[in-house]
Amino acid sequence: MTKIARPDYPIQALLTRRWSPYGFADRDIAIDDLRALFEAARWAPSSYNEQPWRFIIARRSDRQAFQRLLNCLWDANQAWARHAPVLALGIVKRELTQTGAANAAAEHDLGLAVANLSLEATARGLSVHQMIGIDPDRVRNSFAVPEDYKPLTALALGYAGEPPELALEVLQRDRSARSRKPLAEIVFAGAWEQPAELAAD
Ligand SMILES: Cc1cc2nc3c(=O)[nH]c(=O)nc-3n(C[C@H](O)[C@H](O)[C@H](O)COP(=O)(O)O)c2cc1C
Repeated sequence: MTKIARPDYPIQALLTRRWSPYGFADRDIAIDDLRALFEAARWAPSSYNEQPWRFIIARRSDRQAFQRLLNCLWDANQAWARHAPVLALGIVKRELTQTGAANAAAEHDLGLAVANLSLEATARGLSVHQMIGIDPDRVRNSFAVPEDYKPLTALALGYAGEPPELALEVLQRDRSARSRKPLAEIVFAGAWEQPAELAAD
């Protein structure tokens, strides 16, 4: 299943093909593909090259580990994410290793790593659905995450599909058109909310 973006201006085809499905097919991810996703994450840029991202993964084939990770998601996310063959948690190291100062870019840099991972996934016919809807305390307790690390997000990974058990309301979200704010609403020049020339037509 695909859901291609319709950009206002031409962009790379790979970017148009990335989307966040709720429905995942009952198909596992080969270990080489899974490894490549995290290798792609590893090569993301980061402030001071700190690489503050950490991931905890669980495959559905390991029922106990998968359930432990699934339990860390909000109920609304569990309802659809339980069909994904792989779940992951995104965690950041809060402080810079060299100085011990707070790393203001840590969450930003986890986002960059997951962007890399998502595009590698797209190129391999896989999809990623990110979630902020997690219980960070439960993650900390379930996986003994140290205090200087912060659980932030979860990822559902797999092949987009329509599992028969998926609620109709959720299926409809997958079938709805994709939308974005126009460039003029997000790229300014000269003054706040003054659209940049590149976004003016
Ligand atoms: C950091 C982040 C957190 C998100 N959290 C959730 C979530 O908790 N539950 C959910 O259903 N979708 C979540 N999403 C998915 C977004 O709703 C989705 O990316 C957005 O609607 C754009 O759709 P697209 O990714 O298909 O282009 C999250 C996405 C990101 C990047």
